[in-house]
Amino acid sequence: MENANDSSGPARPDTMEIAYDELCGALAAQDLTGLWRRDGLGAQPTPRTRPHLWQWKTIAPLAKQAGTVVRVNERGDARRALQFCNPGLQMGTTESFFGAYQYLAPGETAPAHRHSPAAIRFVVQGKNVFTTVNGDACEMTPGDLILTPNWAWHDHTNYGSDPIIWFDAIDHPLVAQLESIFFQEHPDGMQEVIGHNVSERGFGAVGLQETSMSASVSSHSPLLRYPYSEVDRTLESLHAAAGGASVTVEYKNPITGGPAIATMTCEMTRVYPGVPTTPQRQAGGRMYVVFRGSGTSVIGGTEFAWSAGDVFVVPSWVPVEHNVSEQSDLFVVGNRAVLEALHLFRKAELDEQQKVTGVFAKD
Ligand SMILES: [Fe+2]
Repeated sequence: MENANDSSGPARPDTMEIAYDELCGALAAQDLTGLWRRDGLGAQPTPRTRPHLWQWKTIAPLAKQAGTVVRVNERGDARRALQFCNPGLQMGTTESFFGAYQYLAPGETAPAHRHSPAAIRFVVQGKNVFTTVNGDACEMTPGDLILTPNWAWHDHTNYGSDPIIWFDAIDHPLVAQLESIFFQEHPDGMQEVIGHNVSERGFGAVGLQETSMSASVSSHSPLLRYPYSEVDRTLESLHAAAGGASVTVEYKNPITGGPAIATMTCEMTRVYPGVPTTPQRQAGGRMYVVFRGSGTSVIGGTEFAWSAGDVFVVPSWVPVEHNVSEQSDLFVVGNRAVLEALHLFRKAELDEQQKVTGVFAKD
């Protein structure tokens, strides 16, 4: 006679289901999970970062309003910056960076602090302002790039009669993901100014470097200020020689040839009217600041119309192409420097222009 308690035979489906649920429960109780329950790796990136655009005509009045209701000079961690919050992310403008527009009124100072996230400033509007970086007061005029490398003391001073708005990019989301945020206020509020535009003196001409500068090789560029006048001249001469729909230069560390900031790739792309740029995609999200000009970009099939002062985002591996109605300068910050250091960077060109399937409108 067959034993009713014999369990050596194949399990019935309902028994297996109960056993599976019991196993999953037992794993969860021990802070474990089965890898078979996770989604598989995708064939290519599926970014949570969304293509998005913020318009200058919306931002500028809000920045001005913040200038009247938000104070900046009380605590070292306080900055009057309007952060661009990507609707696809809980934190960040892209997966790696926060972008922001910072507003400093005439006569104001933003006190000194330092932090492990690195940042850059790109001036959009205003002058007679300097950012002091480790004692070097770097003058800020439209189109200039100022570095505030990680753990460098920095404060801001508006000594003019007009407000200034500049674009901040900070690798805060990247460093936060690595759980490596450190921050310190300067004990004296503002740091002592040693000199003005000191870092530029050692790099006055192509291929020439003041000899004592060789001692200052570090993780970031010893050059802290990149004037727009030099970028403009370089782009113009490159395009005069080669032509094409666009030309791009990268801001480099003049000692090592690496990126100006280890975690950031900063570029300026000049786009010329006539024909659209070749559609391309690359790993890593990018933030674009329209410094001059106007035009459209097709990002993943959606058309974004932009003009000076607008900011837009191209997520990782989403194709992008530009078409301008006038000569336009796009300042771009991305994380290619990080991906290349980790041997993860990829890029590709598309064979044909993207088909436009929609036009961007804010929800
Ligand atoms: Fe800061």
